[in-house]
Amino acid sequence: MPNLKPLRLVAPVLAALLSMPFGASAQPARALSATVTIRADRPGAEINPDIFGQFAEHLGHGIYEGIWVGKDSSIPNTDGYRNDVLAALKDLHVPVIRWPGGCFADEYHWRDGVGPAAQRPITVNTNWGGVPETNAFGTNEFLDFAEMIGAKAYVNGNLGTGSPEEMADWLKYMTSDQDTTLTRMRRDNGRDRPWKIPFFAIGNEAWGCGGDMRPEYYADLFRRYATFLKAPKGARPLIIASGGHDADTSWTKVLMSTIHQNMGAISYHYYTLPSPTHDWQAKGPATGFGEDQWASTLVNALKIDDYIKQNIAIMNKYDPQKKIGFFVDEWGTWYDPEPGRNPGFLYQQNTLRDAVVAAATLNIFEKHAARVRMANIAQMVNVLQAMILTDGPKMLLTPTYHVFHMYIPFQGATLLPTDLKTPNYKFEKFSVPAVSVSAARTAGGAIEVSLVNLHPDRSAQVSATIKGAAPRHVSGTILTASAMDAHNTFDDPNALHPVTFDGAKIVNGRLDVALPPKSVVVLSLQ
Ligand code: AHR
Repeated sequence: MPNLKPLRLVAPVLAALLSMPFGASAQPARALSATVTIRADRPGAEINPDIFGQFAEHLGHGIYEGIWVGKDSSIPNTDGYRNDVLAALKDLHVPVIRWPGGCFADEYHWRDGVGPAAQRPITVNTNWGGVPETNAFGTNEFLDFAEMIGAKAYVNGNLGTGSPEEMADWLKYMTSDQDTTLTRMRRDNGRDRPWKIPFFAIGNEAWGCGGDMRPEYYADLFRRYATFLKAPKGARPLIIASGGHDADTSWTKVLMSTIHQNMGAISYHYYTLPSPTHDWQAKGPATGFGEDQWASTLVNALKIDDYIKQNIAIMNKYDPQKKIGFFVDEWGTWYDPEPGRNPGFLYQQNTLRDAVVAAATLNIFEKHAARVRMANIAQMVNVLQAMILTDGPKMLLTPTYHVFHMYIPFQGATLLPTDLKTPNYKFEKFSVPAVSVSAARTAGGAIEVSLVNLHPDRSAQVSATIKGAAPRHVSGTILTASAMDAHNTFDDPNALHPVTFDGAKIVNGRLDVALPPKSVVVLSLQ
């Protein structure tokens, strides 16, 4: 649980001043100035809680050691799930979890992961490090885990190497309420009543690790497999088609024009690399980077806004009523492997830069709430832009976890459109809007405002006009630090955490915010 110590901003600001390079002027750089109009009089779509979703793949220590340690572990656990991670995830209000992959999904045969653990086959995780996969964590373990933390289950089916029959049987095993051989098997495995499976995907990254297909071929396969996915009335999941990535919109176009039933959403993936050329061989390190990589990472992260817009424009043409969702079911930062670790495990540190990327990206998803109705950050524990890192019995919450926690009030709130005028933060050839904003009204009537200052060393003075509401009180929290790569370690797990923010005030109905450099602020206006 994040430690909201009633620290004021004095400590971070002081530290920032002290960290100035020798010889630099002690005079703080002039504040940037931005204005925003919040349209409380023109409420938009509901911000689906599922855009704060997670992704947990059989990859590195994402599942094993990260979530599942087994009942006999010396690490405190409940039925094999580690207690510290369970508690942290419950506290995060995780709305939905996607499992078992990723690339892993298209080689996963669900029958390997049910039944007595000792009798489950040991296979090889060919995608991620070539390590043995014990199958100790399978369907029952995942679905029970999702229930334990109060999250919805999103199961990703195997299209790449599985048959329509295998996929259909999996769904029946999970959802059927009839007395069949499959449901008897489920009962023998410890679960009598069916689970709820709100989301089911047919394949993953069909353009790549999921089978290297053309969208036309995939669309036909989707139509075929979806036909046989049967569940009791009212229990059929929303079926997700595997879509495109990055700037490629061809998948959205082909799927929208060739699939006329059964498709509830299109999935889309985008990863943020620091490399300005998107070089997968030299992405850039997670820590110890310079301002060039701070800036290039933010430029790359914000590209998702245009990519989403381009896909939405195509969807609007075929589906003006917005029945089909656009699910960004993999997103986040991806850095070079940490020296000394298995590169196939995708373990990386998580810094203030990740927090800024997370907050700015969540603001973009919220802006597109009418169509972006789910997003799953990659990944939940120990993999890529994780919420949680573990090391044996130790656990830490990352800056990204803290951002997701700060954004909880946005789950299910109503988007309030914003009109932002901000200068750009520029460094060398890189340029991005210095301030990012999102606003929403909660069911309880509060107006939540999130503000991100992307500039690493200039504060921003933000003046907000609120149309259609006259709040009188403001309170908030902030996540910031003096170093761009500030992060938590197992020796100092609480170095970076949100603290109370007192840099916002309401003057004559206007909200004035003094936003420190490289910070994420969430305000609640009453
Ligand atoms: O999240 C890691 C991998 O990235 C996933 O397995 C795959 O879908 C994507 O390429």
